[in-house]
Amino acid sequence: TKGAAMVTAVASRVQAQRKQIDKVLALFRLTREQLVGVRDKMRVELEYGLKRDTHPLATVKMLPTYVCGMPDGTEKGKFLALDLGGTNFRVLLVKIRSGRRSVRMYNKIFAIPLEIMQGTGEELFDHIVQCIADFLDYMGLKGAQLPLGFTFSFPCRQASIDKGTLIEWTKGFKATDCEGEDVVDMLREAIKRRNADVPLLSLFGLHILLVVELLPLQEFDLDIVAVVNDTVGTMMTCGYEDRNCEVGLIAGTGSNMCYMEEMRNIELVEGDEGKMCINTEWGGFGDNGCLDDIRTQYDKEVDEGSLNPGKQRYEKMTSGMYLGEIVRQILIDLTKQGLLFRGQISERLRTRGIFETKFLSQIESDRLALLQVRRILQQLGLDSTCEDSIVVKEVCGAVSRRAAELYGAGLAAVVEKRREDQGFEHLKITVGVDGTLYKLHPHFSRILQETVKELAPRCDVTFMLSEDGSGKGAALITAVAKRLQQARRE
Ligand code: GLC
Repeated sequence: TKGAAMVTAVASRVQAQRKQIDKVLALFRLTREQLVGVRDKMRVELEYGLKRDTHPLATVKMLPTYVCGMPDGTEKGKFLALDLGGTNFRVLLVKIRSGRRSVRMYNKIFAIPLEIMQGTGEELFDHIVQCIADFLDYMGLKGAQLPLGFTFSFPCRQASIDKGTLIEWTKGFKATDCEGEDVVDMLREAIKRRNADVPLLSLFGLHILLVVELLPLQEFDLDIVAVVNDTVGTMMTCGYEDRNCEVGLIAGTGSNMCYMEEMRNIELVEGDEGKMCINTEWGGFGDNGCLDDIRTQYDKEVDEGSLNPGKQRYEKMTSGMYLGEIVRQILIDLTKQGLLFRGQISERLRTRGIFETKFLSQIESDRLALLQVRRILQQLGLDSTCEDSIVVKEVCGAVSRRAAELYGAGLAAVVEKRREDQGFEHLKITVGVDGTLYKLHPHFSRILQETVKELAPRCDVTFMLSEDGSGKGAALITAVAKRLQQARRE
């Protein structure tokens, strides 16, 4: 009959649609062989970056950090730390007490407006110095001379611990005239500019000049001791409590890893004794095309729409800043195919950056009923049916699972390298981790851990959440560097 025919037609349309959706989701499912392939390619890139001949062309930059040892518990004192490059910009005062290994921190979060992130370098550093001034004022520490550790979470070429030349911006930053410059110099210059404009000077002539000569009218005198990547700060913070911690991992706005490497393997630095921490900058993995077999059209769209097309391809498949964008590209495509949102692409869906990590985390939470998923989509300005919300949830799940697996494959390469280099049958190693994706997402950390276990079966990897690596770790590194600096002087 007619009714039965209609039912069959609807059913087969639903089935056809399901097939189309599954086809898209399947692009994100990696087989074990593919993951083994990613692990092995990462291993090759790590070796390239360490060797003098291949280093200049390496996409995983393997940057020496001049951090050679872990804190030993004798560190103490008051330090300032700056943290630029994560979700927020922060200024911190860190008090370390020796013996009990206790650390107290006070911090203030400052927004960095988009115009400043993407304006001129001078504006960016003037803004940073303004924030430091506000913080010191707020803490009642104006004029104090404190050693400072600068957590600057971008690729820097270092020739010592207190120098770092920015190689290139990553994530959402694009301030002009910074690439190729030393970030410590830029910070010092900004402090000088500020000291040069002490308000008194704008009063009247001679009288003020006299005052300036009599009193050093410096509002600021910071002793910048260390430039630190967030991965390194994270490793240090965990290393303070667990001596097995030799890897630092960030799964947040960006994606990166550092680890302790044998000096004899680091061809860019003189000396064969001991170990040094290497900031791998693995976000650039795949920039030579070696991941093209698993990249999807959606990954390419995200890359092309980003501030740095062609760069940081692994980061763009794995980190918080981009996962939501991949999801959005898939949703746009499914909508175009008439499989979602009644085929209507809303203005909201065209807006970049709407799916922040926190929304993905909420959508994928197991405790959330579909009605609540719809409510979240509603908040994002997307009108969904119940079927839509199921599909959106599946899309988020596929994208974040692939990210966690790719992280796991990368990490497996490093721990295996450490095991082989030390000639151990089995290796027990701790990884210090930080980042919003790792901390907030309901499944990411579990999938990452399962993948490492599967791909590095001879390593027993413990994951340790870092409590504020960018602040505490920077202060610890500063304390160690300061101690060494003083020892050299004596
Ligand atoms: C980006 C940066 C890297 C940082 C990571 C995590 O990949 O290039 O230096 O560690 O983000 O914040």
